This record gives sequence, C-alpha cells and structure tokens, in this order.
Amino acid sequence: MNIAVVGSGYVGLVLGGCLAESGNDVVCADVDADKVSRLNNGEVSIYEPGLEPLIENNLANGRLTFTTDVSHAIRSSDVIFIAVETPSGEDGSADLRHVLEVARTIGESMDAEKIVITKSTVPVGTANLVREEIEDRTKERVHVCSNPEFLKEGAAVEDFMRPDRVVLGVDSEYAERVLCELYSPFVRSGASILIMDVPSAEITKYAANSMLATRISFMNSIAQLCEKTGANIDAVRRGVGSDSRIGMSFLFPGAGYGGSCFPKDVKALAKTMGELGADPSILNAVEDLNNRQKQILLNRLIERLGENLTGKTIAVWGLAFKPNTDDMREAPSIVTIEGLLQHGARVVAHDPVAMLEARKIFEERIEYRDLNYDALEGAEALIIHTEWHPYRHPNFERMIELMKRPLVLDGRNLYQQDQMVEHGFEYVSIGRPPLIPLAK
Ligand SMILES: NC(=O)c1ccc[n+]([C@@H]2O[C@H](COP(=O)([O-])OP(=O)(O)OC[C@H]3O[C@@H](n4cnc5c(N)ncnc54)[C@H](O)[C@@H]3O)[C@@H](O)[C@H]2O)c1
Repeated sequence: MNIAVVGSGYVGLVLGGCLAESGNDVVCADVDADKVSRLNNGEVSIYEPGLEPLIENNLANGRLTFTTDVSHAIRSSDVIFIAVETPSGEDGSADLRHVLEVARTIGESMDAEKIVITKSTVPVGTANLVREEIEDRTKERVHVCSNPEFLKEGAAVEDFMRPDRVVLGVDSEYAERVLCELYSPFVRSGASILIMDVPSAEITKYAANSMLATRISFMNSIAQLCEKTGANIDAVRRGVGSDSRIGMSFLFPGAGYGGSCFPKDVKALAKTMGELGADPSILNAVEDLNNRQKQILLNRLIERLGENLTGKTIAVWGLAFKPNTDDMREAPSIVTIEGLLQHGARVVAHDPVAMLEARKIFEERIEYRDLNYDALEGAEALIIHTEWHPYRHPNFERMIELMKRPLVLDGRNLYQQDQMVEHGFEYVSIGRPPLIPLAK
C-alpha cells in the first residue's frame, strides 16, 4: 500500500517505520526541513529504543522516504495519516492548528479518492472539521477516520508492532477493509482490531490517557493518607492491584506525571467536557493534584535544608519524565530544578539519555555529569526523579563517600527504607511510614 504519514515526530516516525517494515511504501512528510534532511541520512533525533535501526533499514531498502513536500506525499498515497502535534492551547483545549493546516493541504492536493486518518490525539468532533477543510477544497471522495495511537514512549516500536488493541473509528466499509488489511500484520498474535464510529474512537484515546492519569493522582492522594497514618503505600498498592478488577499498572505513587500526553490530554478532555455540558470535575481534580505533587520533592528538601539553598549543591538523578526516553516535555524534574535554582541551589544533574534535551531547558544554569556518581560530589542531597535501571541498585557506599550530607529524596520509591538507614542515609520516599523498629 502507498502511505503518507504527515508529521515525523515520535508518533509519525514509529508509525512510518513500522508500516514500512511490514512491506508498505511509506513517505513521511514534515515541514521541518532540518529534521527531514537528518532523517534522510538515517539520523533519528529522538531517543527511542529500536527506532533508529528500523528507519535505517527501511531507508536502505527504499520502502521509506522523507520529504518536506507534503502535497507530493499526499498525491502519491492512497492512505494518509495525520500525525502532527496537538499541544495545549492557552485555555487548555487541544490546539488543532497543525491538524487543520494538514487537512487544508490534503484538500488542495487531492487528485483521487483517499483515506485520511487522524493519528494525532484530537478532541471528539475533529474528524468532522478535517472533513470540512478537505471537502471545501476538492470534489474527490474522502474517507475520514480516527486511529488513535496508544504507544508508550520508551517502548514505542514494540507497542506498535505488538499492540494490546487497535482502535479504528471508520466512516465507510471501504475504509474499514483497507485499514484492517493495513493492520493485519500487527495483530497476528491475537490482539483485537476494535471497529467503532469515529467519535467513539476520538473519545477512547482521551479516556484511556485520563484514566491512567487518574490512577496516578488517586494513588498519590492515598500515599498522603498513608503518610498521615503510618501505613505503607507499597503494601496498599499490592493489596489494591492484586484485585483482578484493578490490576497493578499505573499504581505507583511518585512526584507527579509528566510527558507530552497525560498533562495536555487531561486538560483537553476536561475542556471538551465542560464545553459540551459533561461534568469535568474529576479531571480538574486529577490535574490539580498532579500540579501539587510535582512540588513534593522540593518541599521536602526545603523542610530539611531550609529555604535558603545558596551555596548548597543538590544532585539530581533522572531528568526525563520517565525511563527509556529523552523526552523532557512537562517532566516533573523541571518543576523541582527551577525551584532549586530559585532558592539559590547549585544543581548538578545526571540522566542516561536526556541531558541534551535538558540543556535546551536549563542551558548553563545547572551542571551536567556523564556519570551519575560524579553528580554526588559534595552534594547535600540527592533527588531521584526517574526510575532508570542504573539507579535501582547503585553502590551505596560510594554514594555515602561522595555526598556531603547523605540525604536522599526518592520520588520513585526505588529503595528499601531499612536498607537505606543501615547504609547511613537519611531517606525520604513517598507514602511510606517513618522507620520505627517493630516490637519483638
Ligand atoms: N508522543 C507520544 O507518546 C504520543 C503517543 C500517542 C499519541 N500522541 C499524539 O500524537 C500526536 C503527535 O505527537 P508527537 O509526540 O509525535 O509530536 P511531535 O511534536 O514529536 O511531532 C510532530 C511533528 O509534526 C510536524 N508538523 C507540524 N505541522 C506540520 C505540518 N503542517 N505538516 C507537516 N508536518 C508538520 C512537526 O514539525 C513535528 O516534527 C499528538 O497529537 C500527540 O498527542 C503522542
């Protein structure tokens, strides 16, 4: 099949690469000329395991090409995916500027019947807007479908190749047939293709992300209750998650959720619900809680070291919003580090892959170290933001030797409290009781 993917970011690259890998001819179009020229040389500027070889192989075998000529990509394809960004507008709604710009280009470039699919996360009703923009500009038949993407950054290629399910909101039998054929290589092991109407598919994506975000904020509030009562969130999490109706995923407490999706999708869904007369209060609470949770590590540090951090070195391990990605969008580490700087601290940071991205945000206002231990030299505290594997079982003796004060504030509950105390750390984690030995 000849396929155009418009937008070569996280989603567009994974989609384009995986569709080419399964034998299709894919042209990926993007307005960013610099990105396109790097991609044509096989250079993938984002860190995503497995993506670079996928792009390289399919460039080499000619099934994948990159262009800035969006019109040409549209004319040469039967199926067109829109995978451009949908950031938060000022009022929290999804900014559809890029999606509708692509729709206009599609309308102006159509020379035959085409299937157009919104892969971007878009509010319910957007497919109608896309259709209007296209039909205003062409007499050719267009099918407008919704195929939301559920990939997880850090495991995106794997998720696309072996999805839990594929959601297809379709507007015709023809579109359903073509899209089922396109996805058939990815569901051979039994995953379902869920066919539905277009509005239901559009809502499914927001509902899924908002449900996950809700679980996180919910567990963060239960963690607060644990701290007030001497209960332990680790035990509560196991107890709750073992219920087969609930399951273990997304029940870890932490320093708040971040990333390119949850924050903006929760806001956008709340906005849509409010506009259409549905009650968004649950989502507003989820967002408010998360914004407060992002302050938790800074507040706990200040409780221990005081407001004035001038002259104090604070180490930060983990900058990306989660492991296995260099994505810094809405990362909770940004809130902590900006707060530390405002209070006068010297911040020395480490992240296995996100330091280049972090430099774009903090520039030379913080220091960066290639080795995680080097960030600890003279530090009066270590703040852990991301549960990267190398942080999970570090050399604690070496850490103690390097740090000026062995204070660890762990936003991911990576370590056992009793072990940390045995090693000589002052250890602060989330939702766990103060360490009092059990009576014999
Ligand atoms: N990143 C994720 O994990 C993820 C997961 C599921 C869904 N989504 C959704 O997918 C969409 C894309 O997200 P992303 O993270 O890939 O975004 P991104 O910012 O990484 O990439 C978007 C790309 O689109 C390009 N672009 C913008 N306007 C264009 C135009 N008119 N023509 C051609 N190219 C254009 C940009 O230059 C950019 O390269 C968003 O709606 C997002 O919510 C993202």
